[in-house]
Amino acid sequence: MAKLVVCDHPLIQHKLTFIRDVRTNTKDFRELVDEVATLMAYEITRDIPLESITVQTPVAETEGKVISGRMLGLIPILRAGLGMLDGVVKLLPAAKVGHVGLFRDPETLQPVEYYTKLPTDVTERELIVIDPMLATGGSAIAAIDVLKKRGCTQIKMMNLIAAPEGVKAVQDAHPDVDIYVAALDERLDDHGYIIPGLGDAGDRLYGTK
Ligand code: PRP
Ligand code: URA
Repeated sequence: MAKLVVCDHPLIQHKLTFIRDVRTNTKDFRELVDEVATLMAYEITRDIPLESITVQTPVAETEGKVISGRMLGLIPILRAGLGMLDGVVKLLPAAKVGHVGLFRDPETLQPVEYYTKLPTDVTERELIVIDPMLATGGSAIAAIDVLKKRGCTQIKMMNLIAAPEGVKAVQDAHPDVDIYVAALDERLDDHGYIIPGLGDAGDRLYGTK
């Protein structure tokens, strides 16, 4: 079974509280989501492999560590996933970006796919799927399905807030995908919104209703 990691660094928890706050305006919401995404990227890359190289300092030759292994790919789920993308790219500037467009039908809560554009070498990359909200899990499962159908094998999921129902659904459908969240909330309400959550992530990022 894949692991669920709650990124409980104090800076992440502090910023998440203001992200949740209904009084936080669009500008501050965007900035905070961007900052938390950067901090989460630090946690999610904790286990990427290193290799030793020799480096000449001004004083002596020494051994240094550099990142080795597979290259990274970032897969934001449109549209709200875009709100976290730049924050992750700041830390991983060499990563390529693929987009998966999905929205959740408000009646059925089922994901509807409307766009996919992936890097040509996506199967050679270790992928991080990015979306602020993991509610029923339908969107995350559909996005991971898209990637696996293309032949991708190394996938992690990154969310600001998850509901236990969504975590279980993703773990059941994709037991090989580790999930990193800033918070695991209580439950879903009757409309599939996370309680307490932060409301509609896309609407709060882009000022739509
Ligand atoms: C939100 C969110 C996730 C999805 C989560 O997107 O960003 O993609 O809902 O819900 P689920 O786990 O039940 O599938 P939404 O469908 O509102 O689209 P948007 O990003 O375009 O606003
Ligand atoms: N999508 C959101 O944006 N918020 C939720 O609480 C659930 C799904």
